[in-house]
Amino acid sequence: MSILRRKSFDDLMRHTQEKKLTKALGAFDITLMGLGIIIGTGIFVLTGIGAAKYAGPGLMLSFVLAAVTCTFVCLAYSELASFLPVSGSSYTYAYASLGEIFGWWVGWSLILEYSVGASAVAGGWSAYFVGILHACGIDLPKALTSVPAEGGIVNLPAVIIVLLATALLVIGVRESARINNILVYIKIGTIFIFLFLAAPHIDPINWTPFLPYGYHGVAAGTAVLFFAYLGFDALSTAAEETKNPKRDMPIGIISALFICTVLYIAVCAVMTGVVPYTMLNTAAPAAYVLEYIGLHLGSALVGTGALCGLSTVVLGMLFAQSRALYSMSRDGLIPMGFYKVHPKFHTPYIIQILVGCLVACITGFTPIQIVAETCSAGTIFAFLCSCVGILVLRRMYPDKPRGFRCPAVHIIAPLGFIFCAFVFFQLSWHTLALFSGWSILGLFIYLAYGNKHSIMNNDNNVS
Ligand code: ALA
Repeated sequence: MSILRRKSFDDLMRHTQEKKLTKALGAFDITLMGLGIIIGTGIFVLTGIGAAKYAGPGLMLSFVLAAVTCTFVCLAYSELASFLPVSGSSYTYAYASLGEIFGWWVGWSLILEYSVGASAVAGGWSAYFVGILHACGIDLPKALTSVPAEGGIVNLPAVIIVLLATALLVIGVRESARINNILVYIKIGTIFIFLFLAAPHIDPINWTPFLPYGYHGVAAGTAVLFFAYLGFDALSTAAEETKNPKRDMPIGIISALFICTVLYIAVCAVMTGVVPYTMLNTAAPAAYVLEYIGLHLGSALVGTGALCGLSTVVLGMLFAQSRALYSMSRDGLIPMGFYKVHPKFHTPYIIQILVGCLVACITGFTPIQIVAETCSAGTIFAFLCSCVGILVLRRMYPDKPRGFRCPAVHIIAPLGFIFCAFVFFQLSWHTLALFSGWSILGLFIYLAYGNKHSIMNNDNNVS
């Protein structure tokens, strides 16, 4: 059946010989890129709401549960990225292991993670930016800072950050990595300053009751917080631009996830230890905690960190989206005209610009925050397919070299699947319904276009 045809290993590896994209990234860049994409809204916004409304101080356990889930998946991704070091991430893995329609479905779901994610984060960036200007006595008109559904005309700051990030990504992956690295240092520095200033004010009494909403609250908190971990999978979309992907990818992915997990749990412990969890229902919990202990410079400090942090998330997601679509275009599942690399900058500029315009329109004109949770649904679906895909690829290509081999893969991959499925079904029914609708729409588009235009129709590379 043509919908289940798979891309062969040799066919995929041919892309690594193309040398169209610049190989500019090392393991350290990948780690910093990971910290850039992963740490953002999750820590600067969701922690407070998660503690106040879902899990109380037990939100630390939600972070641990999400981290355990992501660790299983991260080990699978590390092997997959080192085995198939091609642009496209889980889209490519699903295409090679489960067949074209699953590849398409995953690629289609990644649009939720990256484009909807970038739009939602850009909206958060705008809110922080407006807040900082307000603190400096400058008030931008609501018409230019809100989307039409909220009484404005356009969310201009959100549009501007998306277009700036797009311009940077078009100019070059090396330049983007350089700016990303500087912003990541500022973001991590801010988090350390926050921990340093707030930790001495911890009162352990605030950690009791530890589980005010029971274990059910911990599970619900995990689903909400899962957004905080999104992004580590996006790193593998940079495989073709990494100097030694078989080594650098696993090191980068695993290190980024480890560092994020430690920082998340530390920040969560400090926030809920300093302020009673019931008071954390605010969109800027870190700033609130510093205000609470009398450090009025807190808002400025955290605001700066958040602006840098959210900028790198937008940058990383736009990068990942363009690379996933680049691979889909190369395979003919979306128009092949998009698969063009700039002769001077060596970046897929057409797709990058289209993605930038799409995300700018979404963030500028739609109330995207309402559907932001669908990012997690799309991502978890991609994780589920990757957990199955790694086992299929082990069976299909048992002897091919892998830079990194997932330890005890027959235990880790099924555990990853089970944990992801558990988190998936903690998402609200509203989110799951939206994800189903998105998937059905994608299926129609695939049958009407992708299946007919797939380069597999002209290829003998089907395995
Ligand atoms: N993990 C990213 C964030 O928290 C998406 O903003």
